[in-house]
Amino acid sequence: MQEIIAKTRTFRRFVEKESISETVIRELIDLARLGGSARNSQSWQYQIVNTPEQCEKIFPFLGWAGYLSDWKGPVEGERPSAYVLCFLNRKWLRGSDLEAQFDLGISTQNLLLGAMQKRIGGCRIAAFNPKLASLFEKPDYLELSLVIALGKPRETVIVEECSNDENIQYWRDDEGVHHVPKRSLSSCLVSLKIR
Ligand SMILES: Cc1cc2nc3c(=O)[nH]c(=O)nc-3n(C[C@H](O)[C@H](O)[C@H](O)COP(=O)(O)O)c2cc1C
Repeated sequence: MQEIIAKTRTFRRFVEKESISETVIRELIDLARLGGSARNSQSWQYQIVNTPEQCEKIFPFLGWAGYLSDWKGPVEGERPSAYVLCFLNRKWLRGSDLEAQFDLGISTQNLLLGAMQKRIGGCRIAAFNPKLASLFEKPDYLELSLVIALGKPRETVIVEECSNDENIQYWRDDEGVHHVPKRSLSSCLVSLKIR
């Protein structure tokens, strides 16, 4: 468990020609659906996109790696070979939108952990152009909230300890290795006195 969690990083460059079958993506969504859910409302539905033609339509709407200001996103040949689009089903939602977003975090982490176990890397993308939703013939009660890009990773991603509390920006070195600073365990702990 520790190993798979540590390996499950965000990947943004892929071997685009390595397709991911619908069967495999369904297996990943099968993990997503088992996540905990406030009031057990399970308000998320997932759209699979995995043909080159469909992927080409999705890509222009996506925002990549805001901290890497001189990088415009993966070039042709390194783009995702599949996507899972996460729609909030307002007819199923029982609690607040905030609760639904917690649920989405849990379900997508299940999905990404399962993907990594199959050597598939992924990137959650919240920074998409909202016009992406209009590509789909969908009822109003389905709201697009997150896109997950998937593919065979074509980059090395390294976790390192933050040098200080402010230094959380990921960066890429001259060899193209992606570095992700994580706060140390000790900085993640508080020891507040209990009254
Ligand atoms: C809710 C959420 C939304 C994210 N949205 C984007 C995004 O729009 N574009 C992007 O390139 N990465 C996005 N990411 C990936 C984060 O940048 C990434 O998780 C962070 O840099 C830490 O790297 P790690 O996932 O390897 O720990 C998102 C991650 C999460 C959890």
